[in-house]
Amino acid sequence: GHRYTGLIDRYRDRLPVHDDTRVISLGEGATPLIRLNNIPRELDSEVEIYVKYEGLNPTGSFKDRGMTMAVTRAVEEGSRAIVCASTGNTSAAAAAYAARAGITAFVVIPDGKIAMGKLAQAMMHGATVIQIAGNFDDGMRLVKEVASNTPVTLVNSVNPYRLQGQKTAAFEIIEELGRAPDYHCLPVGNAGNITAHWIGYSEMAARSSEDVTDACAYCQGHCKYAGGGMVGNRPHMVGYQASGSAPFMRGAMVDDPDTVATAIRIGHPQSWDMAWKVREESGGWFDECADDEILAAQKLLAEKEGVFCEPASAASLAGALRDIRSGRIPAGSTVVCTLTGNGLKDPDTAISQSVVQPTRVPAELDAVSQAIRDNLA
Ligand code: F0G
Repeated sequence: GHRYTGLIDRYRDRLPVHDDTRVISLGEGATPLIRLNNIPRELDSEVEIYVKYEGLNPTGSFKDRGMTMAVTRAVEEGSRAIVCASTGNTSAAAAAYAARAGITAFVVIPDGKIAMGKLAQAMMHGATVIQIAGNFDDGMRLVKEVASNTPVTLVNSVNPYRLQGQKTAAFEIIEELGRAPDYHCLPVGNAGNITAHWIGYSEMAARSSEDVTDACAYCQGHCKYAGGGMVGNRPHMVGYQASGSAPFMRGAMVDDPDTVATAIRIGHPQSWDMAWKVREESGGWFDECADDEILAAQKLLAEKEGVFCEPASAASLAGALRDIRSGRIPAGSTVVCTLTGNGLKDPDTAISQSVVQPTRVPAELDAVSQAIRDNLA
């Protein structure tokens, strides 16, 4: 038997850890890459679409990949407290990994505009929750300042260990597909995750060009990577923003960002320069999605494929479907969309956009069977 113990153990040789580093892990990573069946059938174009379901990480988002690295290193360096600004998912991950490590977490979140599930997580894990009368960008400015003169480690994605952890999603995708996809689509807020994926793909391309034949430590020779047969290709990186929070589309910072996809309600991205470089080097692009397009894609994915992601995550699929229909993503392509967070994070948005409400009936056999017969196709 081989127990999975998280991505640091899995990719130890490619991450900044030492042999004797005490790893803070909740078993993150190894998320499913699900091939879409029903949605592609309704497209004119022959395209393979996969979703990387990062919502199945321990706290329900991709942030766990970065947080296991950031907290592991913070603890190794003797830190007793961490701090972050967050639209919700980073704070949930920070709170959970701090609890696991036995250190303190301070999370700075916008007053309102944070999904209930995320707030519940930070509270349950015992973080000190500081709600500011401002948005994420205000919080980011404040925590950077605080971390510069207080003994707390900043664990936002400006912490370099975060991106190191997050790059492992690209490793997993290559191992499963046997190569990199042609297009990788992600929702973009601070643009840390799109940058992290590019780092991961670039490292793998460099490795494969060295004709690596050693079996990886985890699978002991069972993954496609083990044969050394990997093609050194890298995908075009495509980043989608919500229209009301789309600084990469405007070509400038946005001072009053707004969107139903609260996770990416960000007007001053922290990885601005790196993300433009990723676009350039990968031959990719940025685009924007309207809120109703995002919600429609979230619903489509849930209804047609059985996969429930949060609104921000659905921007990757919404944008990809539009670009497949227009031919910008050509027929014959293999496309991966990252679903960054779990749909359960934001039940309020899900319920309020559902047209069909529960059918209310008495607790009697007649009523229940009638309700079923009424709705049989
Ligand atoms: N999707 C979700 C669900 C997110 O929570 C975030 C960022 C992103 C996409 C964007 O990723 O910033 O690397 O471009 N959430 C941060 C937070 C800001 O505080 O949880 P990015």
